[in-house]
Amino acid sequence: MSLTERQKREKEYYDLYAQKYADISFNIDLSPVIAPLENKETRPWNSYWSIYAHAIKEYKPKTKLLDFGTGPGENALRLSLIGYDIYGFDISDKNIQLANKLFEHHAKPGNFQVAFAEKLPYPSNFFDLIIGIDILHHVEIEQSLKECYRVLRPGGKAFFREPVEVSFLDRIRESKPIQFFAPKKKSLKRHITEDERKLNKQDDTIIKSIFPQCKKHSFFLFARFDKFYRKGSDPKPSLLEKLDYVLFQLFPALSKLGGAVIYELKK
Ligand SMILES: C[S@@+](CC[C@H](N)C(=O)[O-])C[C@H]1O[C@@H](n2cnc3c(N)ncnc32)[C@H](O)[C@@H]1O
Repeated sequence: MSLTERQKREKEYYDLYAQKYADISFNIDLSPVIAPLENKETRPWNSYWSIYAHAIKEYKPKTKLLDFGTGPGENALRLSLIGYDIYGFDISDKNIQLANKLFEHHAKPGNFQVAFAEKLPYPSNFFDLIIGIDILHHVEIEQSLKECYRVLRPGGKAFFREPVEVSFLDRIRESKPIQFFAPKKKSLKRHITEDERKLNKQDDTIIKSIFPQCKKHSFFLFARFDKFYRKGSDPKPSLLEKLDYVLFQLFPALSKLGGAVIYELKK
């Protein structure tokens, strides 16, 4: 199948980006899965920890999990620790090579292949659970979610962690005075492809039309300010993320202002 122009750009970008991981340390932070599995710690206020918590909660022995747009396989490795039979695909063959190497190094079985989200190479009703991290905003959302629906078994669930647009807050964030104070070195922009964009209201409508059984969990209100005083690599929990979590529970209407969401979708 020939690639669309958008797919070509994404593939080219991530093939190059994967070279940065060529010397991959294999030393992946597994705590978002290990800590809850060992009953040591949970972080329901953090979207990345929270999506693994959903995968842990949904686990049943001998079930198949698809890591939707797996990248270099780090998320898939964490998910494999739960016990799932892991599958993953990505448009970048360099990423798939990295995922295979990572699984080999950790002596884990994994089924990775190059494929496009818009046309998946799996049979219908094949997966028990689908997890996607920062992927829907890179792909043609309608085609990809229809494929996601097709390959999920009836009663199965899909969880997608995605950034979402909140126009007026995004405008403030992008304004010159705020950008002036924002840390320059670790700008997210460096890792933003030409075509990706945060999910918006139209995307939300599409998602709900394909998966009418849809719940949303919101994150990231005041935690937007974390980048002004915390290092991205800081392993400690963010106080602002905790505050956001409490605020979202107390005042659900605030979830409209969340900058990240986990979609919980059921077939
Ligand atoms: C932001 S990365 C996320 C990767 C991974 N989920 C993670 O969290 O590390 C986006 C990924 O989407 C992949 N991608 C972009 N367009 C795609 C498409 N149409 N089909 C499949 N994968 C695609 C890229 O190669 C890249 O690995």
